[in-house]
Amino acid sequence: MSAITIPADLLPRDGRFGSGPSLVRRQQLDDLVARGRTVLGTSHRQPPVKRLVAEVQERLAALYRLPDGYEVLLANGGSTAFWDSAAFGLVERRAQAAVFGEFGGKFAKAAAAPWLQAPDVRTAEPGSAIGLEAAEGVDLYGTPHNETSTGAMVPVRRVEQEGALTIIDATSAAGGVDVDVRECDVYYFAPQKNLGSDGGLWLALASPAAIERIERIGATDRYIPESLKLTNAVTNSRKHQTLNTPALATLSLLESQLRWLDEQGGLTFADARTRESSGVVYDWAERTEWATPFVADPALRSQVVATVDLDEAIDGAAVTAVLRENGVVDIDPYRKLGRNQLRIGTYVSVDPDDARRLVDCIDYVVERLAQ
Ligand SMILES: Cc1ncc(COP(=O)(O)O)c(C=O)c1O
Repeated sequence: MSAITIPADLLPRDGRFGSGPSLVRRQQLDDLVARGRTVLGTSHRQPPVKRLVAEVQERLAALYRLPDGYEVLLANGGSTAFWDSAAFGLVERRAQAAVFGEFGGKFAKAAAAPWLQAPDVRTAEPGSAIGLEAAEGVDLYGTPHNETSTGAMVPVRRVEQEGALTIIDATSAAGGVDVDVRECDVYYFAPQKNLGSDGGLWLALASPAAIERIERIGATDRYIPESLKLTNAVTNSRKHQTLNTPALATLSLLESQLRWLDEQGGLTFADARTRESSGVVYDWAERTEWATPFVADPALRSQVVATVDLDEAIDGAAVTAVLRENGVVDIDPYRKLGRNQLRIGTYVSVDPDDARRLVDCIDYVVERLAQ
């Protein structure tokens, strides 16, 4: 144990503030146990699991007020697999990618596949952001909604260009940020952040134009590995199945979280709650002499991943180490960013009161370390 013990009455009730995987609520675990005998350890081709998949799809459709013709797709492999699936099955000739952090960069890399033209990559420095913009020859536009590696968030807006698709990586935004999905053709995510589940699955809200593109490319002679074929995802999702075996616990945790979100008031509730928690962190950073919000433009500050730079006199690694020993975990910066920073997940499961306790704990630790 470190020499610094944070008083129990100062500690958050739940010390998990990671940017993903992130806080799983107790009720989700209780639901998982309750479902144990009917779902876990049973066939994913039989009604109990298919019903669970259908429930996840219905709840997502309700949460996002899904426009007519949009479908909820899912498959294995997380958002990383979706990037490759998109390169194989959604980009016709050339993609444009907005890159303002690691995850946007990973999509740009996937879109640099040899059967496509080199992507049009629009880059901004970490801590800022850049929008998509109509460009000659581009048939698919892609951006993260929330860049988890830096804590920059952009509005979801369709690029108005006849025949082109706009796809949004919502891995860390989904379930925590309100959005009008008519502003895009694919809103895709994995469920290990706001949605309080485990990784390994991707889900996508797909427009009729996206489905049409998937089917059109699927019917050409382009080689596509079976597990990455979006046509398989469409066919199987319509039957409430996945091509290969899904993680049943992931589906159960996800369904529980979607049910809770619905009971609490859906995306309106989620949006207000994540704004409140992240607001606590940003307000604290603004008024603290040795802390500064990393994203300079308040309009680009994420409401679900709050990044705060620390003055060089403060040893961020020592602060996070002491917090970890006291049960407050995972507020380290994104590893490749290499900054003296705290990155705090303020996803919807985080209680805003715990965000208040967290900043008090950080103050407590910094004061003690200085003694
Ligand atoms: C914005 C964003 N996109 C994509 C990913 C990759 O997701 P997965 O690990 O499910 O492949 C992450 C993971 O943190 C992310 O934050």
